[in-house]
Amino acid sequence: MFLSRTSAAALKASAWSSAKTNAVRSITTASPSITQAFNASKNENGNYLVTLIPGDGIGPEISRSVKEIFAAAKTPIEWEEVDVTPIIKDGKTAIPDEALFSVRKSTVALKGPLATPIGKGHVSLNLTLRRTFNLYANVRPCRSINGYETPYENVDTVLIRENTEGEYSGIEHEVVDGVVQSIKLITREASERVARYAFSYAEAIGRDRVTAVHKANIMKLADGLFLQVCKEVSKDFPNIKFNDVLLDRACLHITSDPSIYSDTVMVMPNLYGDILSDMSAGLIGGLGLTPSGNIGRDASIFEAVHGTAPDIAGQDKANSTALLLSGIMMLKHMRLYKEAANIEKAVFDTLAEGKHLTGDLGGKATLTEYTNAVISRL
Ligand code: IPM
Ligand code: MN
Repeated sequence: MFLSRTSAAALKASAWSSAKTNAVRSITTASPSITQAFNASKNENGNYLVTLIPGDGIGPEISRSVKEIFAAAKTPIEWEEVDVTPIIKDGKTAIPDEALFSVRKSTVALKGPLATPIGKGHVSLNLTLRRTFNLYANVRPCRSINGYETPYENVDTVLIRENTEGEYSGIEHEVVDGVVQSIKLITREASERVARYAFSYAEAIGRDRVTAVHKANIMKLADGLFLQVCKEVSKDFPNIKFNDVLLDRACLHITSDPSIYSDTVMVMPNLYGDILSDMSAGLIGGLGLTPSGNIGRDASIFEAVHGTAPDIAGQDKANSTALLLSGIMMLKHMRLYKEAANIEKAVFDTLAEGKHLTGDLGGKATLTEYTNAVISRL
């Protein structure tokens, strides 16, 4: 089944009254589509409720930094802090009910890093959250930061990663001793909703091209379907050009001349997006400087993609920039553009000035000093 097109106006949601959004929601509950426009109302104090998942390791201190900066910028937000330490429900990893209810209620969350076990143990909580709320599109922009020099200049990439299936489907089994299979699941439905999101996102941010990144030369069926669906969806967006590129070529291009991708929105299956987004982040200085937004129809979760850095946890040495930038992305999603612009400018000016950089950026400042430097610019 091919889903009907919902206009990119859903993204430019300022044009939408909440009544209209509600109407669209009720029609489309059975079929995921571009109806993820933020739709909550302010509470009696004039604030929006936002769920905060501080996370592990440095999570609590970088979350505190974000809260302080957002409060200083008079952001109309009330945080509801929840813990997502995993519980086992019916033999599967699950998040505690309290966290579940909070995100269902607020429909928007900001999340710090969570520890992920490697090779064994419970399913990554990051993945559990994405699956639980069906956060089908993961938006990861990377832009060069003024004042933080890397071998690359003018990086300005936007990557959208399919976030629910592909190589992350978790379907793995042992055939016989020494032989295992891992199934990469690609469906028309998930490919279509992420493709549609990518085109709508391109329209909303003023880019006139979408580029599908794939390996359909090798995975002819799986990536072939993904690519085919992207092509079909492109017909609904006559003002946006469409092209495609093999994943390995894209890596070669981006590391040779990142500007090749500064006019497009890249869209790709799950694992390619995981790897390519880290690679792009590396060009601008690493995961400490890049935001990420997991977009779903009923909720969206914005998160720092870096790890929990247990070696420096609790020492006031961490850098809160990635979580801050994710928070700014969240404010734009909530159409709090004025507050977003104010905080964004303060963060970028603080980084550009270079006087209050944390250790990961070659500076000597504590997280508290960095936080206060940003606040002084609001
Ligand atoms: C990311 C992370 C996660 C992923 C891990 C922590 C499960 O690397 O968000 O990119 O692989 O998707
Ligand atoms: Mn990753």
